[in-house]
Amino acid sequence: MNLILLGAPGAGKGTQATGLSAILKIPHISTGEIFRDNIRRNTELGKLADTYISKGELVPDEVTVQIVKDRIEQADCENGFILDGFPRTIAQAEMLEEILNASGRKIDRVVNIVIDDEVVINRLSKRIVCPVCGETYHLEFNPAEDNICKKCGAQLVHREDDKPDVIRNRIAAYHKKTEPLVEFYRHKGNLMNVRSENSIEESLQNTLYALGLKGI
Ligand code: AP5
Repeated sequence: MNLILLGAPGAGKGTQATGLSAILKIPHISTGEIFRDNIRRNTELGKLADTYISKGELVPDEVTVQIVKDRIEQADCENGFILDGFPRTIAQAEMLEEILNASGRKIDRVVNIVIDDEVVINRLSKRIVCPVCGETYHLEFNPAEDNICKKCGAQLVHREDDKPDVIRNRIAAYHKKTEPLVEFYRHKGNLMNVRSENSIEESLQNTLYALGLKGI
């Protein structure tokens, strides 16, 4: 299954994608995580992406689309993939469609994770992440003992772009540039809305239910 997770910053795309990837056994592709990995390794892509991410702005479409194209052409995506944080503009969605058409593939489902801006702000201000492996936690809803990553043992930190002024810019960019994708995919007939105010586990169950996969 080729799946897109849409939703505002902090809606829970990454959290749900991690759960879905384990259940469906298809890779979770997060453009944000690819950029952060490049920032950590101080690559040319990382340096470029950081100039946008640190301000809460979107990285240019051509840069982002090329990264996704290269990634979904890899062998582990043959049986499907979960895109988290991509596409984020209509132009990205159109380019993705062209790339998939060229290899006889398509997007099967688009899950739009619906959540109010106030909930998002609470989630992001209390999110802690692993600076080594990228695993995500929450001080209240998904804590880790002594703020140590359960996967790799590193000390957890707040994400650089989870500062209040940057969060505001990210939410503004979402409403202006990404939210129009809801209509774009609704028009194509493969969009489903899932609310995620419930617990992490309940939200994942809601998504599985919407995908017709309950009981897996
Ligand atoms: P990206 O990493 O994609 O950030 P984002 O879209 O802002 O999303 P987040 O990672 O902040 O949130 P999420 O929805 O994954 O929520 P999470 O699961 O962590 O992108 C970062 C930046 O990279 C962008 O601003 C942009 O600059 C650039 N970029 C990336 N993709 C791009 C693209 N396609 N084009 C251009 N630029 C691009 O959950 C949040 C918190 O809530 C966590 O602490 C979690 O534990 C908790 N939580 C999750 N679900 C629940 C729940 N149900 N109940 C309680 N707590 C929950």
